[in-house]
Amino acid sequence: MKILAIDTSCDETSVAVTSGRKVLSNVIYSQILLHKKWGGVVPSIAKRAHEERIDFVVEKALGNKNFCSLQNIDAIAVTQGPGLAVALEVGIKKAKELAKKYQKKLISINHLEGHIYSAFVQNSQGNPKKEFKFPYLTLIVSGGHTEFVIFKNHLEYEVIGETLDDAAGESLDKAAKLLGLGYPGGPVIERLAKEVENADSHHFPRPMLKSKDLNFSFSGLKTSFYYFLRKGKTPLSGVKFLASSFQEAVFDTLIKKTEKAIKQTGINRLIIGGGVIANMRLRKLMRDLVKKYKGEVLFPSYKYLAGDNAAMIGVVAGFKADKGLFVEDINKLDRVPRFNIS
Ligand code: KG4
Ligand code: ZN
Repeated sequence: MKILAIDTSCDETSVAVTSGRKVLSNVIYSQILLHKKWGGVVPSIAKRAHEERIDFVVEKALGNKNFCSLQNIDAIAVTQGPGLAVALEVGIKKAKELAKKYQKKLISINHLEGHIYSAFVQNSQGNPKKEFKFPYLTLIVSGGHTEFVIFKNHLEYEVIGETLDDAAGESLDKAAKLLGLGYPGGPVIERLAKEVENADSHHFPRPMLKSKDLNFSFSGLKTSFYYFLRKGKTPLSGVKFLASSFQEAVFDTLIKKTEKAIKQTGINRLIIGGGVIANMRLRKLMRDLVKKYKGEVLFPSYKYLAGDNAAMIGVVAGFKADKGLFVEDINKLDRVPRFNIS
C-alpha cells in the first residue's frame, strides 16, 4: 500500500511517499530563512509560503513518472493537528483536493503520533529493522510540545505528563533569542555548548523537579535567565557558557523527569521524538539514564526524522489503513490546532 503524506503543521512544507514503514521519498521545504529575521514563526508568512510551495513539494515527492504517479498511490494522509491553524489548513485543503480528484481514501493523522512513530521509520531498503516491543514510555520534545505518552500498542496512547507553558524546544529558542543567536535556537546552542564541553557554570534553576507529577514548566527558567542577563553585559566569551548552562538546565530537567516517569510506570523502554532529540548531548544523557535501568532508548534513525517531516505521518497512516481507519466524510475534515492524543 503506497501512501502520499502531507504535513504543514508549522514552518515546514513536507510531502512523502511511504509504504508500510518504508520511506520511498520525503521532501521538506523549510521556511526557516523566511522566519529567521522575526525570531520565530510568523503565521501569515507560514501560510503564504505553504500555499506557494505545496504543489511543487507534492510533485517533487512523486518524482518523475517512472517512480510514482498519483494514479498508483493507494491513499492520501494528512496532519490534522496539533499545529498552526492557518498552516494546517493548507495541507488539509491540498489533501482533500487530491483525494477527490484521484478518488483516493483519506487518512487524518495527529502530528504527535508521527513523532512517536518516527523512531520506527525505515529507509527504502527497510532499515533499520527495529521491532515493536510494547509498551513504551515516549517523550516528545519539540518546539511546540513536551509530553510523556505511554505508547501501549499500535495507535493506543495515554498522556501522563506535559508542559504547563513553554515547550523544551521553545525555551531553547527563547534563550537563543535573548543571547542574540537567532532562530531556531536548539542547533546553535548545541554547537556553542559543545565548544565548552557542556559546562554548567551558571547552574540555572531546574523547574518542577520537586513536584510529584510528570508535568513540565519552562517559563520560569526563561524568566530567571532573562533577569540574569539584565544584570550586566555578558562578554562575548561568556555567551558559550550561558548557552551551555541553559541547555544543561533544560536537559537535566528532562532527564530527572524521565527518571521519575520510568519509576512511576515501571517502563524502561523509551522512545524520544521531536526536533530537540536531534541534539547529541540529550541523546547521550538519555542513553546513560536507560543504562541505569537496564532498558533501551529508541531515537529517530535519521536526523531529518527528528524534526517535522511527512514520512512519519505516512508511516502512522499505514498502520491506520491496516485497521480501515479512513476519513468517512472528506468534506467534513477540518484542522484541529489543539489536538490531544488518545
Ligand atoms: O519537531 P520540530 O521540528 O517542530 C515542532 O513540531 O515543534 O521541533 C523544532 C524544535 C525547535 O525548538 C528547535 O530549536 C529544536 O526543535 N531543535 C533542537 C535541535 N534541532 C532542532 N534543539 C536542540 N538541539 C538541536 N540540535
Ligand atoms: Zn513536530
